[in-house]
Amino acid sequence: MATADTDSGALRLAAARVVAEVFGGRSLKAVLGPAEQAFAEPRARASLHAVVLAAVRGSLRWRAALARLLARPLPARARAVEAALVCALSQIEDLGAPAHAVVNDTVAAVRALGQPGLAGLANAVLRRWLREREALLAALEADEVARLLHPAWLLERLRADWPGHWQEIVAAGNGPAPMWLRGNAARIGRDDYRARLAAAGIAAAVPGDARLDQALRLETALPVARLPGFAEGLVSVQDGAAQYAAALLDAGAGQHVLDACAAPGGKTAHLLERQPGLAGLVALDKDPARLARIDAGLARLQLARDRVRCLAGDAGDPAAWWDGRRFDRILLDAPCSATGIGRRQPDVRLHRRAADIPVLAAGQARMLAALWPLLAPGGRLLYAVCSVLREEGEAVVSGFLARQDDARALPLDLPGGQPLAAGVQLLPGNEGMDGFYYALLERQ
Ligand SMILES: C[S@@+](CC[C@H](N)C(=O)[O-])C[C@H]1O[C@@H](n2cnc3c(N)ncnc32)[C@H](O)[C@@H]1O
Repeated sequence: MATADTDSGALRLAAARVVAEVFGGRSLKAVLGPAEQAFAEPRARASLHAVVLAAVRGSLRWRAALARLLARPLPARARAVEAALVCALSQIEDLGAPAHAVVNDTVAAVRALGQPGLAGLANAVLRRWLREREALLAALEADEVARLLHPAWLLERLRADWPGHWQEIVAAGNGPAPMWLRGNAARIGRDDYRARLAAAGIAAAVPGDARLDQALRLETALPVARLPGFAEGLVSVQDGAAQYAAALLDAGAGQHVLDACAAPGGKTAHLLERQPGLAGLVALDKDPARLARIDAGLARLQLARDRVRCLAGDAGDPAAWWDGRRFDRILLDAPCSATGIGRRQPDVRLHRRAADIPVLAAGQARMLAALWPLLAPGGRLLYAVCSVLREEGEAVVSGFLARQDDARALPLDLPGGQPLAAGVQLLPGNEGMDGFYYALLERQ
């Protein structure tokens, strides 16, 4: 546990370490959570979160700046120093932190990172930035990747897929994300929960679409510990776009439901909250460690678990886990590029490559084809991805419909949604939500 929570040096050091891990290929979510836990003060955790998110989001710009400021690239063993410099530039330029304090703390952080030989260089680089910032900022403006903070391959894909909307998608990916809540329908109505928030001095907006009947939007994110009744399971954090899944699937009492890529269980819990009378719910995930989080979530929400079976297995290989009982409803929330949630997971743009997309799309198509025979005639399958790339949404579903005679897509009308040949695309930022693709398929 860091002792000096209010010590900006300790924060900058921790931020540099997290950003270095992300530059090394680790997922932001995996490294940031544990790093935050090292700070006792909620305020220090929130600062670390803000500094790291801004640095990762801005890293395509600030790494380009460093390329101009350094005579030669830093050696690979100095990744943490590069991260400390990216954090410093981002704090000065994106977060408006006082420049001289940032420079001093960064030089100290470089020493603490075990690179005292690079402390002078860090100092010189940051001072040169401050001296020449106007000219350097102008040069970065001329570099599209540095300006738009998205890699060239992704900009090209977004332009091709959404010629009239790609700029909005990019802007939303670089913008702040509101915090969305979902009241636990099994325990409390939305109005009552909203009143609990108001009593705690927290204002919450109600979205316009009546289908999002338990959703509330907070303009500023808060630690969950500040949400009334969070530990007791009155509420969960879940983006508004993700809350459409349970509403569109609309599972009825007595139905048998499969949640095929279920972990960590946000949508599983919503399905149960919304319909306590399900005959059974199978929550499947390939990753046993993530699967364990489903049960913990259901326990916190105090949802009956006797009719829930959590299974570790491959959605593309039902022969290995299916008991032969057909499902009335299937949710396939498939693994994807996560290009619809870049504002929450800005590391995705650093880690994904253009070549990943066809591989993801082939996996999505394989799961969809493998799960279809498990659906009862008249049953419905909801296909979802938090992607904005047509290759993972419309193309997967259109290809499937062309091959599958007994499948038809039901019309989906979502506010602000982009209608497509099959399914509907929610673009990020629309109604303050993440980007999501949905298609609802019915078996004849
Ligand atoms: C988008 S996340 C699901 C989020 C979840 N539905 C929720 O709302 O909390 C995709 C999940 O698919 C799982 N997964 C990836 N490949 C899979 C496969 N072949 N079969 C089953 N699950 C898989 C991942 O482990 C991951 O937990």
